[in-house]
Amino acid sequence: MKHIELLLLSSAVLLCSAAPAVELVTCSEDSGAAAAHLAMHHINERHDHGYKFRLSETQDIKVVTVDGDCDVELQLKLQETKCHVVNPKPFEDCEIREEHERAVMANCTVMITVKSGDAKVTKYECDTRQAKTNVEMVRICPDCPSLIPLNSPEAMRSVDETVKIFNQNTSNQHYYILQEAGRVLSGYMMRAGMVYYPEVVLVETHCPMGSRILPEACKPLCPDRAHHAVCSSSYSAKEGLGSVECEFYPPSNVTALSPGEREPVCRPPYHVGPPLPPGHEGPPPHAGHGPPPPIGHGPPPHAGHGPPPHAGHGPPPHAGHGPPHVGGRRPPPGQGRPPFTPPPSHHCYSLNLLQSDPALHPICPWPHPELHPRPKHT
Ligand SMILES: *[C@@H]1O[C@H](CO)[C@@H](O)[C@H](O)[C@H]1NC(C)=O
Ligand SMILES: *[C@@H]1O[C@H](CO)[C@@H](O)[C@H](O)[C@H]1NC(C)=O
Ligand SMILES: *[C@@H]1O[C@H](CO)[C@@H](O)[C@H](O)[C@H]1NC(C)=O
Repeated sequence: MKHIELLLLSSAVLLCSAAPAVELVTCSEDSGAAAAHLAMHHINERHDHGYKFRLSETQDIKVVTVDGDCDVELQLKLQETKCHVVNPKPFEDCEIREEHERAVMANCTVMITVKSGDAKVTKYECDTRQAKTNVEMVRICPDCPSLIPLNSPEAMRSVDETVKIFNQNTSNQHYYILQEAGRVLSGYMMRAGMVYYPEVVLVETHCPMGSRILPEACKPLCPDRAHHAVCSSSYSAKEGLGSVECEFYPPSNVTALSPGEREPVCRPPYHVGPPLPPGHEGPPPHAGHGPPPPIGHGPPPHAGHGPPPHAGHGPPPHAGHGPPHVGGRRPPPGQGRPPFTPPPSHHCYSLNLLQSDPALHPICPWPHPELHPRPKHT
């Protein structure tokens, strides 16, 4: 009897210790669940484009012990969720995409170091791909739509149309601009021909709804102070744009500005890659310093990758760099004008990702594999 009670007690303790965040990653092999949990938080925190991911399974765990400390290598299989990264919902609560919606998975290798009882993720690299290839899908579901490259003219057209219609909704306080195209499905319909189903991520700008400024010329509010919207629609050449359905997310910072305080400016709007050194949030890291950007840094050299590079896509970069402000003032030439601003969203700026699927947002490797050392600022 005593023994049973003890067993019950210890399983209760186990249940409690399975609660997230308090679980410790140790050097023992049964620390796998805790290690995977730590890895998932780390990966989702750094994933600043596309959709959140959830753990599907831990495929392998290797622990190499050195003097009581250890290195843990995890092989994880992840599944893409339906929550875009602008959605504040914790990734654990997000739904996984089903096969017919063209599921996306990632195969990740994650390194964790445990030193004096303290566990830290030191590195990860993922291979992100569609769970089933188009050929496999045709066999399973010939009528299911497929994901098309985000920079294809059809995808960009359907996305642009969605943004345009969105900005005609006068219940919005401000204009919104495109943050990124999340995904675009396409399929054939008897009556309409090819139909495109874009999922579009929009960010609120400074420009009041109804102002004469072209929405594309508007600058996004800082990410923590902007509303975001994720909208789905359908588009066909024959029938035009279908209804636009949106989910809105409130800003995380709702602190009112004190009288006379101006809305803060965030530059660059959506930074991808390693954090910039303090005081250098303005121009991109290579602006005016050191050698020209290496290949693979900045816009990819050839089509077929990344978000649509054309004007009007993505939040406009710095003042004076985007389209001229209608009725506004241009900054004087040569002032606050970096020579080059990389497109704000999504490539991983890494050579090994040039083969990645242009129809989806991959998980970028971390730390960012630097192609040349960052110049030192004194
Ligand atoms: C994931 O990658 C590892 C290492 O590259 C490989 O051994 C494993 O088979 C891969 N798993 C899947 C599901 O692709
Ligand atoms: C217009 O925007 C509001 C939120 O500002 C939203 O609730 C509403 O559904 C939108 N209407 C249309 C037709 O998109
Ligand atoms: C919220 O935004 C205001 C205005 O930019 C800023 O002063 C404040 O520090 C922000 N609060 C947080 C918690 O980031």
